[in-house]
Order: sequence, then structure tokens, then C-alpha cells
Amino acid sequence: MLIKQAPDIRSSEITPERVYRNRREFIRTASGAVAGAMAGAAFGPEAGRVEAQEPIPNLLKSPFSTDEALNSFEDITTYNNFYEFGLDKGDPARYAHEMTIDPWSVRVEGEMNKPAADVPLETLLRPHPLEERIYRLRCVEAWSMVVPWVGFPLGDLIKRFEPTSKARYVRFETLYRPSEMRGQRGRSLDWPYVEGLRMDEAMHPLTILAVGVYGKTLLNQQGAPLRLVVPWKYGFKSIKSIVRIQFVEDQPRNSWNVAIPNEYGFYSNVNPEVNHPRWSQASERRIGSFFRIRTQMFNGYADQVASLYDGMDLRRYY
Ligand code: MTE
Repeated sequence: MLIKQAPDIRSSEITPERVYRNRREFIRTASGAVAGAMAGAAFGPEAGRVEAQEPIPNLLKSPFSTDEALNSFEDITTYNNFYEFGLDKGDPARYAHEMTIDPWSVRVEGEMNKPAADVPLETLLRPHPLEERIYRLRCVEAWSMVVPWVGFPLGDLIKRFEPTSKARYVRFETLYRPSEMRGQRGRSLDWPYVEGLRMDEAMHPLTILAVGVYGKTLLNQQGAPLRLVVPWKYGFKSIKSIVRIQFVEDQPRNSWNVAIPNEYGFYSNVNPEVNHPRWSQASERRIGSFFRIRTQMFNGYADQVASLYDGMDLRRYY
């Protein structure tokens, strides 16, 4: 990150037609599950069918949402980090439509009682009612946004696979497909992108898997069809376009830690008191605003998550 600073992208560079062309159907079962849960009805094959950038109906409201002003849809879909499509903040919006996301399945494996399996996205999402979660996203590059995600707690999914007591961490992998992800043809990172969480972090109710924003399915540049969102950590922990979830005993080596170990650690909790070796983390610029604001400990989620790190030296475990 900050390998290259990109200028803010202009609205004239947005190409919604191209993005909208990439229509998807994965969300129909998830939204159907919501409709079914709300109505107490069985879920029929066509119920709640929603395609890309179609509204996802019957979203539950979350008590974890912030009431801060939202960033615009344009901000959150045109100013992205997704190195699989390039280093410039505008590259994901330009090139992510080249990734096909239908069909999509996620390999779930590792230390768990259920057998390892390639789970079709529809099956993975089906039991989970979807919520709107308005979270702050704080990038390690010292910018931030407020994003209305649509998703569900990762912990609910983890429970279904019954991880064993050996499963101390959860490891995630992004799709590796250089033919469609032009950034993977270069070596800006060691592909595929990998992230990890300690099991208690993964089970924390604030940690979600997101499938949408602004009440609609995710665009590819946002990590469609399924991405992680961990709001008290720097944005790079929120891995996009997930194809593999593993329950593992040893702490995974996450991509940014492999790339630049003295700058990016495993925990990467937002911490205004511990500066990045090359810049301060004390303040941030909310995208769309000129002024800087003070960065809050754990990105403002300290009341909920500080106890996860009791007794840990957060300078050492950065
Ligand atoms: N996931 C993958 N697979 N590849 C990436 O390059 N970038 C990370 C994270 N997830 C990244 C990724 C970084 S650095 C940030 S800040 C967030 O995605 C940005 O998410 P956003 O584009 O939705 O704001």
C-alpha cells in the first residue's frame, strides 16, 4: 500500500454500463432466506431473486451501525484497493468487470468436524439472514469511508462447519485467476491474496461477510461476490472475492505481512498511538472531505473489541 498514490478519480471516468453488464444471480438464495425468515415461509427456487445491482429486499437493521454520514456510492465503488486489478485507486473500477463471478464456490476445509467441501455460493449463503451494517472502514494509508454493507456475521457461518479445538485461526484466500485479474500477471504481491484472523476475532459479532452495499449486490471492484469486513482493523484485513476459508492451527502469513513484514503485521488493529514506520496513524482523511479527523482506537469499536487484546502489547503485535 502507498506503493503508488493515485489521484481521486473523476465521476466522468465511471462506466456503469460496463459494470452493470456483469449481472449475477448468486444473491437470490440469500435474499430468499431473508424473505423466508421474515415470513416464516419455506424458500422457493425463485423467491426473492435479485440480480447484480438489484436491491436486496428485507434487510435487517443492525444495532452495530454507526449513524455517521455515509460515503457516496460513487466514492465506495471508484476509490478502491484491489491489487489484483492494478495499483491505482481507479484500476479496480476500470478492470474488475473482467472477473467472472458466476458460478462461484468457496472451499471450506481444515480443522473441522464437517468434511471439506467446495460449497456453491448459494448454499453458503442460504441460511443467513442479511443485515445492513454501516461501518467505518479505515485504510492503513490514513483515509477512511463510511460504508453501508449488506452481510451477515462470519461467526454464524463458522459455527455451521464445527471447527475443532485445534482451529485457532481462520485463513482466507482470494480468487487466483490471472487471465481475468490483470494485476496477478505482475508481482506486486505474492498471489493469491491471503488474510487471517484469530478464531475469537473471526467469531466476534462485528466481523461480517459482506455480499452487498447500499442495499444492492457488491460490484466486482468491492470484492464480489463475497468479502470479509472487520471494522476495527485496517482495511487490508478485509479480504475480497473469497474462494477459500480454512480453519488452521498456526497463525497464517497474510499477504501484506509477507510483502513488507516490518510495516504490516498480523493483527493490524487500527491504533492511532502506533505509527506506521513511514507515516503517522494519528489522523485520517474521510474520502470526500477536505479536513482530517482524529483516528480512534480500534477505529471507534474499542468498547466492543478491546477485551480481545487484554494483556497484549499492541506495539509488538501490530
Ligand atoms: N482484498 C484483495 N483480494 N486484494 C486487495 O488488494 N485490498 C485491501 C482490502 N482487501 C485488497 C483486498 C485493502 S488495502 C483495503 S483498504 C480494502 O480492501 C479496500 O476495500 P474497498 O475497496 O471496498 O474500500
